[in-house]
Amino acid sequence: MLLTFFLVVIQYICCDKIIIRELSIPLSSYPKHLPPIKLAVISDLHGGGVVHLEQIAKVVERTNELRPDVILFVGDAVDGPRSQLEDLMKPLKFLQSKYGTYFVTGNHEYFYGDAMEWIDLFNNSYGMNVLDNKVVHINNICIVGLNDISSNRSGITNHSFRLEALLECNSNSPIILMHHNPIIADKIVRYTNENNLPLELILSGHTHSGQIYAMTPYTYFLLPYCYGFYQMHDSNAKLLVSAGTFYQGSPLKMPGRSEIWLITIS
Ligand SMILES: *[C@@H]1O[C@H](CO)[C@@H](O)[C@H](O)[C@H]1NC(C)=O
Ligand SMILES: *[C@@H]1O[C@H](CO)[C@@H](O)[C@H](O)[C@H]1NC(C)=O
Ligand SMILES: *[C@@H]1O[C@H](CO)[C@@H](O)[C@H](O)[C@H]1NC(C)=O
Repeated sequence: MLLTFFLVVIQYICCDKIIIRELSIPLSSYPKHLPPIKLAVISDLHGGGVVHLEQIAKVVERTNELRPDVILFVGDAVDGPRSQLEDLMKPLKFLQSKYGTYFVTGNHEYFYGDAMEWIDLFNNSYGMNVLDNKVVHINNICIVGLNDISSNRSGITNHSFRLEALLECNSNSPIILMHHNPIIADKIVRYTNENNLPLELILSGHTHSGQIYAMTPYTYFLLPYCYGFYQMHDSNAKLLVSAGTFYQGSPLKMPGRSEIWLITIS
């Protein structure tokens, strides 16, 4: 009986409960005449072997329930090639928000053959705007999406991680930057300082907050930014490292670490 109880507790702790985490970020440069803007941040779905259609549909449903103005998806949507997983990812078509969904690649998009197949599906069939080193202006905020640093080894023409994309922001627009891997956050801040760019927020995922207990000490001590909300040094900018929603490898996550962030910018 004790054993059963123990297993039930473990099962309960590790089940796919998605937590909504809310954060409010006032910007001195946000236009006062505009209403606050709500950003839903999702990452690390890892659709594939151990993450199923129902789970992806659940994330879409929870995200839509938040009635966000913009949905920002910071990479690692998939864990497999498009030829095998296309049907599994279909729920992403139904993400809904006022100004649309914006997506950047994570390292896993490059693991399974031609990443452009996924990018093409997301961008041209699912209506998720893939920001491949591109910017978009919404309510005078410049939203920048950079390809994951591992894109440099993808062999795709003109697809390498490019900080220079930031120069396309209007000079008076506060910047929110999406990049999957937080390991280069310092480099991004240095670049924006050198170029006098008003970077306010970096959004990342990738670390899974350690994903499972055994890995947590490793990620905590070895990664400069492991999980949560950070104030960057020598800059106004903040960094959010989301634990993402699902997992790679074994279907286990830290309790309370399957999450969608809802950020209100005002
Ligand atoms: C995504 O779609 C937009 C608009 O349809 C297009 O301008 C852009 O080049 C596409 N991007 C990719 C990576 O396919
Ligand atoms: C490479 O991409 C950049 C930014 O997206 C674009 O300005 C440039 O024209 C592209 N170059 C080529 C050779 O396609
Ligand atoms: C990736 O490629 C870009 C453009 O070619 C380059 O600026 C950058 O330093 C490269 N490597 C990394 C890790 O950013």
